Amino acid sequence: MKKIFIILLIMITNFSFAQEFFSPAKNFKLTISTNSRGEFFYKLDYKNKTIIKESKLGVELVREPNLMDGFEIQKIEEKEIYEKWSPVWGEVDTIVNHCNSIIVYLKQTSTNRYLNIHFRIFDDGLGFRYEFPGQENLKYFIIAEEHSEFAMTGNHTAFWIPGDYDSQEYTYTTSRFSEINALKGRNFNDIITKSIPGEDFVQTPLMIKTDDKIYINIHEAALIDYPAMYLKVNKQNFVLSTHLCPDAYDNKAYLQTPFKTPWRTLIISDRAEKILESKIILNLNEPTDFEDVSWIKPKKYVGIWWSLHVGKESWNYADIDNVRIDQVDWNSLKPNGRHGATTENAKRYIDFAAKHGFDALLIEGWNIGWEDWFGHWKENVFDFVTPYPDFDIEEISRYAKEKGVELIMHHETSSSVTNYERRMNEAFEFLKKYGYTSIKPGYVGPIIPRGEHHDGQWMINHYIRVLQKAYKEKICIDSHESVRLTGLHRTYPNWLAAEAARGNEFNAWSEGNPPEHETILIFTRLIGGPMDYTPGIFQIKMGYYSKERERFQVHTTLAKQLALYVVLYSPFQMAADLPENYERFPDAFQFIKDVPVDWKATKVLFAEPGDYIVTARKDKKSENWYIGAITDENAREFSIKLDFLDEGKYEAIIYRDSEDAHYDKNPMSYKIERKKVDKKSSLKIKLVEGGGCAIMLKKLVD
Ligand code: NOJ
Ligand code: CA
Repeated sequence: MKKIFIILLIMITNFSFAQEFFSPAKNFKLTISTNSRGEFFYKLDYKNKTIIKESKLGVELVREPNLMDGFEIQKIEEKEIYEKWSPVWGEVDTIVNHCNSIIVYLKQTSTNRYLNIHFRIFDDGLGFRYEFPGQENLKYFIIAEEHSEFAMTGNHTAFWIPGDYDSQEYTYTTSRFSEINALKGRNFNDIITKSIPGEDFVQTPLMIKTDDKIYINIHEAALIDYPAMYLKVNKQNFVLSTHLCPDAYDNKAYLQTPFKTPWRTLIISDRAEKILESKIILNLNEPTDFEDVSWIKPKKYVGIWWSLHVGKESWNYADIDNVRIDQVDWNSLKPNGRHGATTENAKRYIDFAAKHGFDALLIEGWNIGWEDWFGHWKENVFDFVTPYPDFDIEEISRYAKEKGVELIMHHETSSSVTNYERRMNEAFEFLKKYGYTSIKPGYVGPIIPRGEHHDGQWMINHYIRVLQKAYKEKICIDSHESVRLTGLHRTYPNWLAAEAARGNEFNAWSEGNPPEHETILIFTRLIGGPMDYTPGIFQIKMGYYSKERERFQVHTTLAKQLALYVVLYSPFQMAADLPENYERFPDAFQFIKDVPVDWKATKVLFAEPGDYIVTARKDKKSENWYIGAITDENAREFSIKLDFLDEGKYEAIIYRDSEDAHYDKNPMSYKIERKKVDKKSSLKIKLVEGGGCAIMLKKLVD
């Protein structure tokens, strides 16, 4: 297996050295080369087609000679890796890591500096990273920019959101590289800076499709102590190149050798389904060194949450503004009569969660400060330990415990991260005292310290500090408005989910997410890890709540909301709608109650970014299978062969769109059917425009 293929200097005259390496099944060929200037290149072929043309690698340093050229290859090490491991939770219970590892040891002769480039070639793509080994001539240094290129072979189609150092909450545009116009990004900066520098770059995971139907996903793995990566798009030659999130000085990363950057990942297949089944990103992350993971449990939860987003209740207790949390006598304030996080309401939700078997309850708006948070850009907004006068935390925590419902703490930091870090010890002591098991930290708004960004090195380290602190206290994390995931949940399995994309919430108070949104999210944001998308909205038109919201709605049918629990993987899954809405549709609600949040096996049956996804998963704890199917604004039909089922008979409980359903005209019309099936059966399903179908395949005892 350890054969090295050497092509002797004949490839292209410009290249003075070139060598080829293959993936285990040999469907991928990596060619590395240097030219007469000592620049270093890689090239990637898949099934004898070039996918990435010769692309340069290197980094630019602040006030130092760049590590971009003048390289000499000292040696190359190649080895095959084959291992199996089991994630603490996940889409599958066993993951195979099979690849060829190549380490290229480079020396920059003029500076006597060393840089190693690591490649891992899998049968579904490639990972590469830079290593700055410990060395005499490079100890402390600052990255000005990483210049990793991905030279594309043509003007492919991309599914992209604009570059923004602080947010990924955008809808996707599908366009050719040449038509990318990503200048509309950086929304949080827009509100506090005088001018916005203009440069075109897009976010990763970036999904790409070539005209000859090759699917390419570019992202990163193991983002630690380094800024997040975006991609600059050259619209003439279609070379994508890395652009790192800067700090206030426009520097990118402050490093000390030895150091390894995150991996840059390319997942490639001629079948879109295989992109979604790839485990490259998880395999490139380090195994966890957590000693005890037995307390880390996937969770299905409800929340005092949607009522706040639809405007039925409020986060704030009083209708006042311009308050200083430490100077207000909260007990003497007049409540606004709409406050959601009251003791009574919390108990109502605890009863609902207990009755229907949910693990946990999230309560937002429980702590003082909501009168004065968003848009005020000040440092001291929340203290994370003082409940409003109508929130009897003692009693709520006692009641939740009695009913067997966990509590999820909400820490909206309003991006005043200095304030959060300063108060973190007390905040953790407080939530441990009241028996909370998880935290939803939120980072809405521009970061304090000012000039830092959500995706910059300083914040990347902050998210990890929170995870480590949470691990010590046996707490799980669901971060909102954080950096998007890069498979770090392998290393930190208490990072159950993140938002870091445009979630269902946008449908409550804006033009929302188009019907295709989730079919792209799954190929982009979810490639890095689970998302707290908050599905399960049954009351689809927002005019139900108030006249002002008449133009807002979720762009879905009710059956599609059920299907999202299967297609959008997360071990932290919310039943987001109001209890009273679930009580109106108890038969459909049954699916949300039944669907698991941890899986033994996953098969993506049909998928096309921007169009549709059909996924089957097997429950980790039972013999039951589940299928979810979603479509964009077009109606579609699928014939699903059930050959993935185990032996024996199943009852298929099919939650589908009614014939006359439509995401806009008739979104809440669904039907439930039951059929006996086995592995020889096929199921024909029809999805209406913006629709979906959810199926439970319940194993019958023989
Ligand atoms: C945005 C979060 O995504 C949402 O879930 C939360 O309710 C609000 N911020 C308030 O913290
Ligand atoms: Ca959000």
